[in-house]
Amino acid sequence: LGIYFAGLAGQLPAYPVTYPGLEAAARDKLDQALFDYVAGGAGDEFTQTANQVAFQRWGIVPRMLSGAAERDLSISLFGRTYPTPLFMAPIGVLGAMHETGDLEAARTAAATGVPAVISTLMQDPLEDVAAELGETPGFFQLYTPNDRELAESFVRRAEAAGYAGIVVTLDTWTLGWRPRDLGHATFPQLRGQCLANYFTDPVFRSRLEKTPEEDPGTATITWAMTFGNPGLSWDDLAWLRGLTDLPLLLKGICHPDDVRRARDAGVDGIYCSNHGGRQAASAPALSFLPGVVDAAEGMPVLFDSGVRSGADVVKALALGATAVGIGRPYGWGIALGGAAGAAHVLQCLLAEADLTMGLNGYRTIADLGPEVLVRVS
Ligand code: FNR
Repeated sequence: LGIYFAGLAGQLPAYPVTYPGLEAAARDKLDQALFDYVAGGAGDEFTQTANQVAFQRWGIVPRMLSGAAERDLSISLFGRTYPTPLFMAPIGVLGAMHETGDLEAARTAAATGVPAVISTLMQDPLEDVAAELGETPGFFQLYTPNDRELAESFVRRAEAAGYAGIVVTLDTWTLGWRPRDLGHATFPQLRGQCLANYFTDPVFRSRLEKTPEEDPGTATITWAMTFGNPGLSWDDLAWLRGLTDLPLLLKGICHPDDVRRARDAGVDGIYCSNHGGRQAASAPALSFLPGVVDAAEGMPVLFDSGVRSGADVVKALALGATAVGIGRPYGWGIALGGAAGAAHVLQCLLAEADLTMGLNGYRTIADLGPEVLVRVS
């Protein structure tokens, strides 16, 4: 209600309240290549559109007089309670979108209680980001390099820095076909951005003859040669599992058989996602969510890809997500106003989710199941 009352008093929100508004404001602020890198997707970008259309094809069934004047949107995940069902998905170029972008994401988490999954490709060392998280747990997202000792070093550092879980992203063993990036023939890492977490790693440094400070060009090429991991397979899962006792989640899993394999290998959570349509040109991630939830048999399922409104959050929860990830929307918030911009975006999504639940007569997330949804197209 705060936003309405402030509006009545003539105080308009500091940042746009809709996704198109956020994107347009960020387009005005960022350089074209960076904007396209963030906004763009795979192939003809149909997958990005499909991610959003998939949400629009569901409606929410309203129930009246159900006593939903007060709502509780808290969730529990790996033994902790979180005040909201939202989390910030990993974005590897926050450090290019804002001078202190990764630190801003951590500060957003500290200020809102919304956990952040922090990318391997952060611009600040993971320890510095962890120090800004306050009381809110953070998760470390691992892009598994093709150098096992380096992967182990990242996980050791994340454990020592106090991260609450490791999220291994599986859908980016090589880059997707992104025509917008090909048009600019560059992306942030090749401009020397967002590699500080790599460049400060002791194992990575041991692979170089000259330090990244002395010879950043060679360090960047070494990163590029190390980053992709086409050989990673199910055979490597026991090794990944053995790296840590922290909750281990796999990001990019959409097929029930893959969920079952992950479960058999001792994974703690599944993260259903199509990378916001940036990697494979594929089906909307939302269409896979019910099958993933079924196969997970109670294991937590995180979801992202295409969430743009509070109603989308409610729909993902009703389809069985344990927590709902936001990617580009909070990224634009960081570009526009650092932690304050991202907190604004999350608060708008949360306010809308809360109102959507209340007006439709649902009080808690436990009230949301598939029966709450109806196909509208
Ligand atoms: C991403 N994403 C991502 N995922 C990941 O596991 N590690 C990463 O470093 C990145 N980097 C990244 C950069 C940019 C610019 C974007 C937009 C996305 C994917 C991200 O975590 C998430 O899956 C999607 O952003 C979710 O889709 P929406 O919310 O952007 O539609």
